Amino acid sequence: MIEVGKMGYRNEVISSIEAKKKRGQKITMLTAYDYPTGRMVDRAGIDAVLVGDSLGMVVLGYETTRKVTMDDMLHHARAVRKGVERALLVGDMPYMSCEPDEDAAVRNARRFIREAGCDAVKVEGGTGVVSRIEAIIADGIPVMGHVGLTPQSVDEGNGFKVKGRGKEDAEKIIKDAAAVQGAGCFSVVLECVPAVLAGKITAELTIPTIGIGAGPSCDGQVLVIHDLLGMFDKFVPKFVKRYADLNAEAVRAIEAFKQEVESGEFPSADSSF
Ligand code: KIV
Repeated sequence: MIEVGKMGYRNEVISSIEAKKKRGQKITMLTAYDYPTGRMVDRAGIDAVLVGDSLGMVVLGYETTRKVTMDDMLHHARAVRKGVERALLVGDMPYMSCEPDEDAAVRNARRFIREAGCDAVKVEGGTGVVSRIEAIIADGIPVMGHVGLTPQSVDEGNGFKVKGRGKEDAEKIIKDAAAVQGAGCFSVVLECVPAVLAGKITAELTIPTIGIGAGPSCDGQVLVIHDLLGMFDKFVPKFVKRYADLNAEAVRAIEAFKQEVESGEFPSADSSF
């Protein structure tokens, strides 16, 4: 039985993720927000499970991720932890959790480790958050970076749009990726950047890049589990591949239940005591 949330095991999993880049093996990461999903993703052999602040949009029904609080994140991370025994468990630092200073960033990162049993945290942003990332890592907590489209900035007129199309914007993302590597991140998410730019960053960095809407050259890929399984039907981003349509399947099952109750077919003698 693996001892979850223990430093030795955590370091081993991080090393195995880093080693995959060196060997040219792809890294897989998926989000999870509850115990049964954590169990499924872990059982399927995925390398890392992210309790993403996408929680706000796909589970809590918000328009953006910015309303998600530390308490929301910890509540869900604790449930996922119970289901994840093998994969690396990463807690997503929500909007404003690294503010107003390094102390706040460290305090909130510690909560993910101590109160929810996460192995690492993810911090959105590039050069602007380097001091926060450095402080968290100095406290002994591994950090995954996140550059390109950073959903926590969408209310600032940024929009859910591809980043890095122009030369200046591309250079900024290259600089951001180098900055989070320099700060000590063990990997970095590249979100919604052109495939060629993601390939260039992946070749330049020594840490693994994990892409979402960033093309095939990244060292790994991450998707939001509700997108992959077809459970979120409000919109489907271009970069998503749906591997199932659980939303339609669930509605079919619920309609069958309703119809059988109304007709008296359920519960049958077999389902009764
Ligand atoms: O919150 C999230 O799910 C994320 C992924 C999209 C990487 O940050």
